[in-house]
This record gives sequence, C-alpha cells and structure tokens, in this order.
Amino acid sequence: MLDRLSPQAPDALLALIRLYAADPREDKIDLGVGVYRTEEGATPVFAAIKAAEQRLVDEQDSKSYLGPEGDMGFVNALMPYIFGGDPTMGGRLSGMQTPGGTGAVRLALALAQKAGVKRVHMGVPSWPNHAQILADLGLELVTFEHANPDGSANLDAVLGAIKGAGADGAVLLHGCCHNPTGIDYTAEQWDAIADAFAASGTFPIIDAAYQGLGQGLEEDAAGLRTVLAKVPEAFIAYSCDKNFGQYRDRVGAFYILGQSSDSLDAPFSNANALARACWSMPPDHGGAAVRIILRDPDLTKLWLDELDTMRARMRGVRDALAAAGTAGRIDLTPLGTQNGLFAMLPVTKEEVATLRDEHAIYMAGSGRINIAGLTSANLPKFIAALAAVTG
Ligand code: LMR
Repeated sequence: MLDRLSPQAPDALLALIRLYAADPREDKIDLGVGVYRTEEGATPVFAAIKAAEQRLVDEQDSKSYLGPEGDMGFVNALMPYIFGGDPTMGGRLSGMQTPGGTGAVRLALALAQKAGVKRVHMGVPSWPNHAQILADLGLELVTFEHANPDGSANLDAVLGAIKGAGADGAVLLHGCCHNPTGIDYTAEQWDAIADAFAASGTFPIIDAAYQGLGQGLEEDAAGLRTVLAKVPEAFIAYSCDKNFGQYRDRVGAFYILGQSSDSLDAPFSNANALARACWSMPPDHGGAAVRIILRDPDLTKLWLDELDTMRARMRGVRDALAAAGTAGRIDLTPLGTQNGLFAMLPVTKEEVATLRDEHAIYMAGSGRINIAGLTSANLPKFIAALAAVTG
C-alpha cells in the first residue's frame, strides 16, 4: 500500500534549518526560518517565560486533560492585548487555544469551510503554509498582489478581492508584520478595508502571528481592531510563538467574533469538534506559562520589556540596512520603513543559491530574509556579498 505514496519535497523553509546546521563555515549567516535572534545570534528563552515555567513546575498539581478548547485562562488573558479595552466586544468575541499559529489558521480555515466557504482570497506572496493548508483542506485559493512595485501595500487589489469574494468566499489578511514582505497596510488603508468588509459582507480571516514585533503591541493590533469594529463576524488566528519566543512549544489561539454572544455557541461547538478530531486538545505547557505571565504584573512588565528590546533591535537592523542604500542592484532603503521579522529582496533563485554556496548566507528561495539574523558583526559581510552577487 505504501508504494502508492509519492515522495513529497520537504518544506522548503524548515529544510533550511537542517542545511544551515550542517554547514561547517564559521561565518555562516542564517536568514532563513522566522525566529528572533539577539545581537549574538542566539534565540534565548524569554526571562519571563523561564520564571513562569519555574512557577508552573512548582505549582502545577495535575496534568489531567483539559477540553479541546485548552487553557481558557490563557485564551482570556491574551484578549485585552489583542482586542483592547473591551476585549470581548460586549460578549461577541471568544476564543480557544490551538497548537501554535498554524493550528489556529488550520482551525479558522476548516471552520470557514464547514460554514460554506469555498474560496479564500489572499495577497501574494504570503507565508507558504497558508497555501499548503488551503490545498490540504481542498479550499480554492484566489490570489491578488499584496504589494505595489513601489513597495506600498496594494489597496486596490485587496479592496477588489473583498468586494468580489461573494457569499462563499473569505479574505485572509495578515494582521501586522506581513510575512514575507514586511509591508503592512497603513491606518487609512485598514479603514478602507474595514469599510469594504462591512459593505460587502465578505468574511474576514486575520492571521496575527507577530503582534509586538512591528511598531508596538497596541500599534500592531490597530488594523485588526479597525476591521472587527465594523464587521458582524470574523475569525482571528493568533500566535504566541514569536512574541513570547515559544516556537517549539506551539502556543496559539483562535478567536471568533459573532453577531451576539448567543451566536458563538454553534461555531465553537464546531471548532471544538474539529479540534477534537485533529489534535484532541492543544499542548498545555506554553499557554500555561503565558497565562502565568499575564496574571502577574511583574512578569508582564518583564515580558513587555523583552519584547521592546527585540523590536528595537530589529528596528536598528532595518535602519542600518536602509542607511546602506544599495547593495549591487538591490535598493535596501524600503526595508527601513517595513515591519517585523521579514523583508523580500528582489533576487533570483540562482542568486539565492550563490549567496548560500559561495558566501554561506542562507535565505528562503523566494528571496525572503529574516531581519533578526543580521547583527552589527555580520551586516557588512551580508551587504558586501549581496553587492557581489547582484552587482
Ligand atoms: C516562518 O515563516 O519562517 C515562520 O512562521 C516559521 C514557519 O512555521 O514557517
């Protein structure tokens, strides 16, 4: 039977992790998978997480099962940070825990499909796993261009997708720190997007995986809050993998905005059933650590300070890249105004391969770089190599 399966290519982003690890060159630079790195190139556990984990070890008195919704203390504690002053929007908004942001996106799309969505409109380029999840579910993907050639977000394209999606279409947007371009919608653009959702009745699905890594926790949530304020219903997929550094612990949440608090029962019963049939219940540890942090003012402050440090470092790298001006034919100045971990360089696949083979610089085949992989020590080498390869 197993010979009926044809081999699949490994996930290109995750395969880079192994390739990089196997490279013996000491001056190698990892700009591949999206993890934050310090100026020393490390991805340490947050001090706030370490402290919360210690408390968890000391105080946890059972590892008995929770339900498919996971740790609701974690889910609810996050809500003021994501949704603001009225975190449940009068009882219309609630959530459940998921295995990472990927679990949340998967659940959002599967539930949308169960509710009759057949087509999902999405700006491209996007996080490659979005398309993989859609294909796995058998949902049609309709693409539009996320960015204009001048480096701004393409408002006309997203408005066209929202207006034309129809009752069996949904539109999937990145809440902030667009992966892979770093190009986010402006506040005015979010207003227009929210109006278009409200006028068309098209269903919004917002993937928020990088809150706090762009302009600030509040600032990064402003776009999704603008949409939620104007629409009757929406799904939000949320990840704590980046902003709490919980990557391998898989910490995420899925939120549903309904027309009323009563209208949430049916969608959550379906979401619970989907979760039960897929992962039964999410891993507990990471979410419990986040809950402990968010219920303790001192740990919350420690976490916020760590997040500020990350964001400031990435801003510094972006400023340095922008200050370099150009490298070969690549204009680096737009990177200074973009947000989050990622930027797209207009390089060919061959140039990506040359950067890896001859300069030990690892990036996604698409030309996406992880800004946090650059440090003041390796930045000159990166710029020189980019100039040599694209000059
Ligand atoms: C990335 O885009 O590099 C991250 O979101 C990690 C992943 O799961 O792809």
